[in-house]
Amino acid sequence: MRVVNVPLGTRSYSILIGQGLLPRLGFECQKLELGSRCAVICDRNVAPLFGAAAERSLKAAGFDPVRITVPTGETAKSLKTVQRCYDQLAAHRLERTSFVVALGGGVAGDLAGFVAATYLRGVPFVQVPTTLLAQVDSSVGGKVGVNLRAGKNLVGAFHQPKLVLCDLDALKKLPPREFRAGLAEVIKYGIIYDADLFRRIERDLPNLLKLSPTLLGEVVARCCEIKAEVVSQDETETGLRAILNFGHTIGHAIENSIGYGKYLHGEAISIGQIAAARLSARVLALPASDVERIRGIFDRAGLPTGIRLTSAQRMRLLDAMKLDKKISAGQIKFVLADGIGKVRWGQKVPEPFIKEALETATTRNSKPKARS
Ligand SMILES: NC(=O)c1ccc[n+]([C@@H]2O[C@H](COP(=O)([O-])OP(=O)(O)OC[C@H]3O[C@@H](n4cnc5c(N)ncnc54)[C@H](O)[C@@H]3O)[C@@H](O)[C@H]2O)c1
Ligand SMILES: [Zn+2]
Repeated sequence: MRVVNVPLGTRSYSILIGQGLLPRLGFECQKLELGSRCAVICDRNVAPLFGAAAERSLKAAGFDPVRITVPTGETAKSLKTVQRCYDQLAAHRLERTSFVVALGGGVAGDLAGFVAATYLRGVPFVQVPTTLLAQVDSSVGGKVGVNLRAGKNLVGAFHQPKLVLCDLDALKKLPPREFRAGLAEVIKYGIIYDADLFRRIERDLPNLLKLSPTLLGEVVARCCEIKAEVVSQDETETGLRAILNFGHTIGHAIENSIGYGKYLHGEAISIGQIAAARLSARVLALPASDVERIRGIFDRAGLPTGIRLTSAQRMRLLDAMKLDKKISAGQIKFVLADGIGKVRWGQKVPEPFIKEALETATTRNSKPKARS
């Protein structure tokens, strides 16, 4: 088992990464001095896969878990689902010392984390991420929240978990398309922070896609280390933490304007990161060979590298970008790369450059897929 610490003073916690960890959930929670009652929040796909094992482990350690099952998919990340969770927590008399276990992907994590952040003005929570995206990204760092019709993650809080438990075995059940979507965040860490990680993914991609356990453990742990380093320096995103949004300005606009259903988050940010690399070439003179390496790795990972849009749709994409909550005073700011492994945040980009990058991104190598 690998352990990565997230140093945040009194809110510090550990990320445990390894195989066969789910049966240890209760034992690990015992160390946290939590109350006996808890709620396991998971979606309808995850409940039959891991719900019983999580509850068995919690019960064996003396806890009294209640399961709350929520619908699957991005639309479940809503205030309506939050309300239903509150009602069930209240019905089961969860108290201030009781805790919430978020079991599942980023949707369950963000939702359950938001419920934990707000129920009784905040109760402790534990993340048990079961998708690659959740293990390397959403379960770490304490950003929790839900969507509004106007856009993604518009309501939320910072609420750090007490523990993150990443059981790599869970990924064996994950549909390949979801695994590849998670790789988009893994590749992102290489681009923004760690050229060696990027090279390693370039070299070992076939083994990573085969879920080779040692490699997977090392890569997940390295991504968590990077996220922990960034978050511990800038917990509430006043500066450095923004680098984690590389590719996300365009990625979120794709999700918001084309709809949540068509592209998975990882697919949208794959297109977004390639567009951001092209902008980086224009604004920061990122070498063309690096742009090609970035495009190539997403392509080899089976991720979309562009989308085909009409000019009207492209305008909608630009409008969606202007609505993104990261924009201040109408100015769209980007995270751009000087080189692979080194980025700068808060980069102002002239609108014609954005249009140009979008034109390239939205006419090339279109691989629209139906949601599986
Ligand atoms: N809080 C953050 O810092 C942060 C960071 C990145 C992304 N996010 C959020 O994460 C969400 C996306 O997360 P996601 O990609 O994990 O999506 P998800 O939670 O919807 O999971 C993807 C699908 O896989 C299923 N699933 C989960 N684990 C499984 C397993 N082991 N085996 C089989 N099926 C499994 C789920 O039921 C779902 O259908 C988005 O809402 C995004 O905004 C948050
Ligand atoms: Zn992301």
